Amino acid sequence: MQILDAVLRRGQTIDASAAKATNLAPVDRALAIAIAGEVLRRLPDLDALIDSATRQRLPDDSKARMVIRIALAQKIGLGTPEHALVATALPLVDGGPRRLVHGVLGTLLRRGLPSGEAPHLPADVEQRWGEAWGADVVEAARRQIARRPALDLSFADCPEAESYATAHNGVSLAPNHVRLQSSAVTEMAGFQAGRWWVQDLAASLPARLVPAEAVDVLDLCAAPGGKTMQLAAAGHRVTAVDSSQSRLARLRDNLDRTHLQADLAEADALKWNPRRSFDAILLDAPCSATGTFRRHPEVLYRARPRIIAEGAELQGRLLDRAAQWLKLGGSLVYSVCSLEPQEGEQVMEAFLARNPAFRIAAPDALPAFAPAHDRGWVRILPGILEAEGGLDGFFMARLVRAA
Ligand SMILES: C[S@@+](CC[C@H](N)C(=O)[O-])C[C@H]1O[C@@H](n2cnc3c(N)ncnc32)[C@H](O)[C@@H]1O
Repeated sequence: MQILDAVLRRGQTIDASAAKATNLAPVDRALAIAIAGEVLRRLPDLDALIDSATRQRLPDDSKARMVIRIALAQKIGLGTPEHALVATALPLVDGGPRRLVHGVLGTLLRRGLPSGEAPHLPADVEQRWGEAWGADVVEAARRQIARRPALDLSFADCPEAESYATAHNGVSLAPNHVRLQSSAVTEMAGFQAGRWWVQDLAASLPARLVPAEAVDVLDLCAAPGGKTMQLAAAGHRVTAVDSSQSRLARLRDNLDRTHLQADLAEADALKWNPRRSFDAILLDAPCSATGTFRRHPEVLYRARPRIIAEGAELQGRLLDRAAQWLKLGGSLVYSVCSLEPQEGEQVMEAFLARNPAFRIAAPDALPAFAPAHDRGWVRILPGILEAEGGLDGFFMARLVRAA
């Protein structure tokens, strides 16, 4: 209940607010995170169920509504037995609306709950994505939010990815990639040895746009380093910059574990000035992160129009700075894990209008499931590779500076 309150009222992430629950044993914290995630995956549908069983509408932020949401989400999303969810829900309203919660829950459980296979997204998100991408994409996103996604691994070494996929019942959907159904990451073969790192397949695409012949590559907004490791594994000389000390520490740990090299700098890219220019720059900019809704359903509640507009403004400024640090003829790859055209297509169009020395180069090294748009950029939407388990939403483009 505290996690959900922090997410819905204070705009925090599930993980950040769960980390504060230091009184919980790790298994209990994991369960709390799973329950909070299930509530957020299906909140509009849970609320519609609750409203169908109450004569007077329960206020959105009432304790009774939250407790019933938590109970229903466990049943629909986690298959928790009814006696267990009633026994854990009612103590949450001791001395409060216990009879009300018991009554509504009993009514709904007797009626039978829906399967929850394609829950509605928040209404504002469905409207925005419907306008931007169409009804089919909204439908695909509904199907995807119901399931926790598979685990994608990126390998430094391409032949090793293929043999790992064969040995561990996985599937390789692109060079250096393996998709698994398992999730006990740190206990899995090859983790400690640093043979791979966890990275959604869509998140591995932007670094594939960096030309192989680029020597000196700047990874801007680099932490925790999924793309830094790809660039280093591909043989580039990498400088990784990020403004967050704690995230850079994770990047350092990731490099140590995978035995890969990069120069690190803790700096605000809006103020930092490199002493040299680069053959290629990868800017994986901070954004609303709505493309990660399958793993982080709370992003759909945090991404209000103001957050998206602020993101777009920052992305434009970061791009303008990065553009100054590129050698003539060099490549600037821009990416965001956002499903908002304001943070992808529109940022790109505005940049090109401001910077006539740049053009978009069509990608030539991406898998067939990631085709280029007529304008040359790549847009990953819900529905792509759905039968294989789907992808995070992403936007990416390679800009080339005229020689
Ligand atoms: C989308 S994440 C990067 C993910 C990373 N590229 C990867 O593949 O693992 C965006 C990053 O931008 C960093 N950031 C945000 N504003 C920044 C700024 N003004 N200067 C430098 N880094 C910034 C954040 O700390 C965050 O780590």
